[in-house]
Amino acid sequence: MSKNYYIETWGCQMNELDSERLSGNLKLRGYQRVEDESQADLILLNTCSVRDKAEQKVYSRLGRLRELKKEKELKIGVCGCVAQQEGEQILERAPWVDFVMGPGNVGHLDAVLEHGTRVAIEFPEDRNYDIVAVDRTSATKAWVTIIEGCNKNCTFCIVPTTRGREQSREFESVLDEVRAAVATGRVEIELLGQTVNAYRCPKSGRDFGALLSAVAEIPGVVRLRFTTSHPAEVNESMIVAMRDHENISRYLHLPVQSGSSRILRRMKRLYTREKYLETIARIREAIPEIHFSTDIIVGFPGETEEEFQETLSLIEEVRYGSLFAFKYSPRPGTPSLRIGEPLDDEIASERLQRLFDLHERMKKEKLESYRGRVVPVLYEGPSRNDPAMLSGRTDDYWVVNFHGDPATPLGSILGVRIDSAQHHTLRGEAVA
Ligand code: 5AD
Repeated sequence: MSKNYYIETWGCQMNELDSERLSGNLKLRGYQRVEDESQADLILLNTCSVRDKAEQKVYSRLGRLRELKKEKELKIGVCGCVAQQEGEQILERAPWVDFVMGPGNVGHLDAVLEHGTRVAIEFPEDRNYDIVAVDRTSATKAWVTIIEGCNKNCTFCIVPTTRGREQSREFESVLDEVRAAVATGRVEIELLGQTVNAYRCPKSGRDFGALLSAVAEIPGVVRLRFTTSHPAEVNESMIVAMRDHENISRYLHLPVQSGSSRILRRMKRLYTREKYLETIARIREAIPEIHFSTDIIVGFPGETEEEFQETLSLIEEVRYGSLFAFKYSPRPGTPSLRIGEPLDDEIASERLQRLFDLHERMKKEKLESYRGRVVPVLYEGPSRNDPAMLSGRTDDYWVVNFHGDPATPLGSILGVRIDSAQHHTLRGEAVA
């Protein structure tokens, strides 16, 4: 009997990696991946619930899959953060779903399939990391989880509910996984955690900076990145590790969420505007060429025009290269529901637009500043939009599309002369 699976992934890198793990597990069980859901015997939806009407999206997707299930024998599993958040309710509202499995159970798919478990949403003590069973999508890059869950409890955020309490992996187990990934040609490693820099080895107590250094020193790690860092967890050891290892990307995603200390307090972000700016200054002092990116929430309950202006002025002060901004979205069970109503949607949309306009100008200037320079680029494969061109990223994580020799081995570092700046990317030509 053929066993085909189809998997759909929404959301963050953690979810992408969870899908690679689910996928790897299924392949070991003899399943084959298909890209057309109508060919599948097993459909997994790996869902995200961080913003927007995530639940509704999942239910409407499930409505369509119900039709497919009428035509053939088919198992449907809802995984990821909506599964964790909704639990049993999914089976009540969509009884044609076979099982619901939260992110804490990704390593236990075997048991779920074998025992016909219908709801797996507890957070097991032993999160199983089967490093053999990761079906990595990229030939040059590997994601490696170092810490799961989050203890920060920001008032707007669903993650503590969907991913549970913080749990760090053992230092040696992370290093083993990195070595295994490098042995298969993955020259770029990205360490993952909802609050990645809160990492602390459960056995030895070694912190994130120590782990960063140890991973950076593994032979064959050409480039090392990590996401997502919490500003209140940035410490000296992390900064020194970045400063002292050339293969650690000159890029740091440091979500600020708001430029107003009053809003930050209500979000329970554990820092003020001043403290955040101080952290940025400390990092810049050690690593002047660093590219900062951030996340911002616009329209948190009670956000005034003046407070929004503080966010704009903070953006100008930091001069982020990249920026991701979202309208506040009330999430079930989060403390911010009690803080107040979201801002009027029209006002929030208008603020979001002003913010994007401001950042657009800054980004353009930043990208233009690369023109004429020769920069090292890690070659990842053909360009998505123009297969005749090669594509890769700079050390500070800008995408570069360039003319060069297609026989270049994937994962090589090339010198590329930048000729022009596009909307989000750079263009150039490989030089000898
Ligand atoms: N509303 C809007 N944005 C949110 N984010 C997280 N929760 C919410 C919410 N309830 C944003 C934050 C976070 C990013 C991953 O998603 O900016 O950093």
